[in-house]
Amino acid sequence: MWRIVCLIIGYCFGLFQTGYLYGRMHGVDIRQKGSGNSGATNTLRVLGIKAGLIVFLGDMLKTLIPCLAVRLIFGNTEPEAAYIYMMYTGIGVVLGHNYPFYLNFKGGKGIAATAGLVIAMDWKVVAIGLPAFIIVVAVSRFVSLGSIVVVTVVWICMLVFGQLGYYSLTPAGKIEFYLLGLFWMLLAIWRHRANIKRLIAGTENKLSFHKKEE
Ligand code: G3P
Repeated sequence: MWRIVCLIIGYCFGLFQTGYLYGRMHGVDIRQKGSGNSGATNTLRVLGIKAGLIVFLGDMLKTLIPCLAVRLIFGNTEPEAAYIYMMYTGIGVVLGHNYPFYLNFKGGKGIAATAGLVIAMDWKVVAIGLPAFIIVVAVSRFVSLGSIVVVTVVWICMLVFGQLGYYSLTPAGKIEFYLLGLFWMLLAIWRHRANIKRLIAGTENKLSFHKKEE
């Protein structure tokens, strides 16, 4: 029951399309520009660094806030389920962000939204995932590659820390938690399939802090 509630509440939070709204306020449909993604990376590409940061913050907070609320509500009463409920909430936000019904299901890729879930869940995962992301992006200058690497690293961290007993999960809860993590990771990679094709073809957009005029 709580799983469905968390998923639906998360989806509703995910509908807040920071990039799309910010773009509209500045006279562009961000989904018609650059990579067509409505997330922070494409907003940075099209509208500049301030816009990219604002959109990242908005998309991150829309996951952080409901996931922290779930943690506060269930952390003491149902500790063995709190992390699972957080996962349902976070996945709900990512689904709402990636597939907003009122924008013909055309949204973003869910990486900033995912950051909010990870921050709410475990600072240790942030401490490993963030440097991994920064190093990959700094070396390759491909945000998409950094995103694919970071979701994989985060899922592996969840497996390891879950096994070490950090999330108070029951044996069955562990399996559910890991499968939710696997679904979320595969969804993020699936959303990057066009980026993967461009990476292989050598045509992927490199990170730039200058607006790309189109
Ligand atoms: O978080 C999205 C990023 O990984 C890729 O964005 O616009 O280059 O497809 P974009």
